[in-house]
Amino acid sequence: MALYNDTVMDHFMNPRNVGEIENPDGKGVYGSPVCGDMMQITIKVDEKTDVITDVKFKTFGCGSAIASSSMATEMIIGKTVDQALAVTNKQIVEELGGLPPVKLHCSVLADHAIKCAIYDYAQKHGKTYKGLEGFDPEADDDDEQAEGCSGPSCDKK
Ligand code: FES
Repeated sequence: MALYNDTVMDHFMNPRNVGEIENPDGKGVYGSPVCGDMMQITIKVDEKTDVITDVKFKTFGCGSAIASSSMATEMIIGKTVDQALAVTNKQIVEELGGLPPVKLHCSVLADHAIKCAIYDYAQKHGKTYKGLEGFDPEADDDDEQAEGCSGPSCDKK
């Protein structure tokens, strides 16, 4: 039996929204505490409407991370920041039709990188969002270097 379903394979083989937005409104880099893989997300947001108009990702991650990010970017483009923040890694996995249990953390990588990018956007534009209330990009930085947001955007050390 195949380990990955057709939807996962499709997003892995033909990932959507790969790359980097020039002059993004928000940029987030997240390193998985589980495997050390990295994900970068850049976003464009219409400041007036708060709608996310574009998202691009780059990753040093596995196939599941690529599929998760590809799906996640599709899920949040056209949504408001609040709606995007409400998207959970569980929903990403559901949309993908499931991931093997040992690969669930790869969807967390996508989910957290998006939150890092939105956090960066919020910081730069003086905005606050309910969905960011429990999100602390510094929280994971204490014991393991690979954890938490890093890079130019979420660098709060
Ligand atoms: Fe690291 Fe999947 S194994 S993101």
